[in-house]
Parts: sequence; C-alpha cells; structure tokens
Amino acid sequence: MTATLITGIGELTTNDDELGRLHDAAVVIEGERVVWVGPAARAEPTDARVDVGGRAALPGWVDSHTHLVFAGDRTAEFEARMAGQAYSAGGIAHTVDATRAATDAELAATVRKLVREAVSQGTTYLETKTGYGLTVDDEARCARIAAKYVDEVTFLGAHIVPPGAEAEDYLATVTGPMLAAVEPLVRWVDVFCERGAFDAAQSERVLRAAADRGLGLRVHGNQLGEGPGVELAVRHGAASVDHCTYLSDADVDALAGSWDGGGSAGESAGESAGESTGTVAALLPACDLSTRQPLAPARRLLDAGAVVALASNANPGSSYTTSMAFCVATAVLQQGLSVDEAVWAATRGGAKALRADTGDGAVGVVRPGARADLHVLDAPSVTHLAYRPGVPLTCAVWRNGAREY
Ligand code: NIG
Repeated sequence: MTATLITGIGELTTNDDELGRLHDAAVVIEGERVVWVGPAARAEPTDARVDVGGRAALPGWVDSHTHLVFAGDRTAEFEARMAGQAYSAGGIAHTVDATRAATDAELAATVRKLVREAVSQGTTYLETKTGYGLTVDDEARCARIAAKYVDEVTFLGAHIVPPGAEAEDYLATVTGPMLAAVEPLVRWVDVFCERGAFDAAQSERVLRAAADRGLGLRVHGNQLGEGPGVELAVRHGAASVDHCTYLSDADVDALAGSWDGGGSAGESAGESAGESTGTVAALLPACDLSTRQPLAPARRLLDAGAVVALASNANPGSSYTTSMAFCVATAVLQQGLSVDEAVWAATRGGAKALRADTGDGAVGVVRPGARADLHVLDAPSVTHLAYRPGVPLTCAVWRNGAREY
C-alpha cells in the first residue's frame, strides 16, 4: 500500500484532544487511513510526498444532512419567496413529481454532479436522504442510487403525505412495505415532524417502526415553528434533530441533557463517555437564509451544553447549496460562533450527528486510525473561512485516502 506524506502544513486543525492544533505539521496517509500526525521535522520519508506550502489543513467537512436524489427545478418558488411568499412544505410535491418522472440515469447524474461539487469544496463525508419518491418503488430506487455515491443513506419516506394519498394509508405504507424495501440500503430513518407534514403521533409511529428494525433515527424538527420534533427526537434517542430554528427553553435543555453530563463546543464535546450517544442539534443556516427564517439559536445551544452540527441541507427547494464553507461563515458572522466552534460543528459535529466519530475510520478528525479525509485551504489559517467569506479557499482534498481535488 502506498504511503503519502502531506507536509508543509502551516496550521493543522486535528479535532483530536491530545494532538490539538499543530503548526509546521505533517500527516501520513496509507490506504484509507491516517497513520501518522506530527511535526513536519519529525516525519519519516514515504513513497510519495506532497508539500502544501505552509497552508492550513483541517478534517474534510462532514455534511450530515442533504437531499441529493431529485429531479426538476424550483427557481420560480425561490423567486416567489424572495418576493415575500412564505416557505411551506408544499413545494416538496413539485420535486416529487419531477423525481418520479426521471430515469435512474438522470437521478444518478444529479447525485454524482452534486457530490463532485461538494467534494471540490472540501466535503469528504456525506449523508443523503430519499424523500422525493414517496412510492415503494421510487423510494427504493432513490435509496439504491444514493447508496452508490454517498457515505450514509437515510430513508425519508415520511417527508410529506403525497398529494392524493390519505395520511393513515400512507403511513401504513411507509412503516410497512416501503420500510421493508429500503431497509437493506439505508442506515437511518428520518421523519419531517412539522405543520404540513407529520404530527407528533404520526412521527412517533415512523420512529418506532424504524427502531423495531434496528435502524438509526433522525428527525426533521422545529423548522417552521416551535413543535414536538426536538422532544420526540431526544426521547427516542435519535442521533440528530435537524433544523432547530425555533426552540423553546425546554428543547434546548433536552438537547443539552441528552449528552449525560453535557457536551460543549470545544474539541472534547460529547466525548467524555467515549462515544456519541446524545442527540445532536444539526443546524442548517443556508436553509434558514434561503427560506427567510431566523437563524437557528446556535450560541444558545452551545452555551447550554448541547452538541451542534452544521450541515448544508442541499436540496432544490429550501437550500440549494453544497457549500459547507458558506454555512461556517454564516455561523461565525451571524450566529455568534467562534471560527473554531463553527469548524468543529461542520466536521466533528457532523460526524457525531452520523455516529461516525469513533473507532477505526472515524471521520471529522485527523489522527492515526481516522479515515484519510483532509482539506487543505489556500489560506494560512481556518480563520480565513470567515474572514474571507464567499471566497473559494479549497486547495486540495483527500477523501478516503484518494486525492479528489
Ligand atoms: O430539510 N424540511 C423538509 N425537507 C427539506 C426541504 C425539502 C424541499 O423543500 O424540497 C428540508 O428543508
């Protein structure tokens, strides 16, 4: 197996408690793993060597929330929103129609293109959801296509009740034959617990059916107003509750309390117990902006001891971007996070939201044994991610050991 020494790293953010932040550092990768991290002066020669010329490096972004399997375009809906119309879950049906009409090859081409777009901006680990098929066959084919291109697949049959269906019948399908069809293809099951989608009792049925099959749980909640999403997610031990735009004090306390003694925004957030078992608040700032909602209360969550992730929510309706750097800059410039907190949330936080943060092949961290995911910036420090917002700073990307950009 070829080993590659990546040296000349002016500033290395590892997200590892012991390694911390290094200067004049080097990383050795071999196959799909990081095998050595330390001062450049102490690195042993390897088969291949790349000098990044004093630039900053960090773990690749971990994007824990996307919806990449879709067809069609919602520019008109976006324009109407920018002219003052409110976002509602109704636009999802438009994408469902287009997705059902698309061929497998068309859907796969879109996923491939968006994954490439994300990777070229430093994303190295991605989750994506079904949720625009909403028939047994269409959800299964969306899951099959997603599984070919992303690291983690989530079943979101409970996105909306499709037009023409009756809620009870549709839920019986989601929790029965649809779940059975996607089970071999997905790790996670999600439900959109919101006005216009599924209420608390309906959402709970979906979560219970998923848990009965041993699948991991996620919840879309508290996006358009306060509601039961967070409480439900925490009570069922979901790995994340995503959006969290509108939170009551009880919601914030429940999220913080789910980490047994609490996480923090620091590098050891939630790691005291050795593994991620709480419910991560996955915040989607690009979506908040694109739907003209307030930005989620990131600072309030961190101050309370909750564990926060930042994700793109790339989808054609509420957040048509794959840019994690945009999310990081927004979290710093408008949500009160420090650069380190925002970078942590978009790497380690995402890994925790996907429970991919521990053991061999852990992501969101640069240390021996971690997956070889590295993002080099054309900048001397991660601070430039917020100091130079909107500037494409990605200079090199290794994903699972392969140079992809
Ligand atoms: O996470 N909230 C529900 N689902 C997506 C939106 C999908 C859409 O509008 O097409 C979201 O924002």
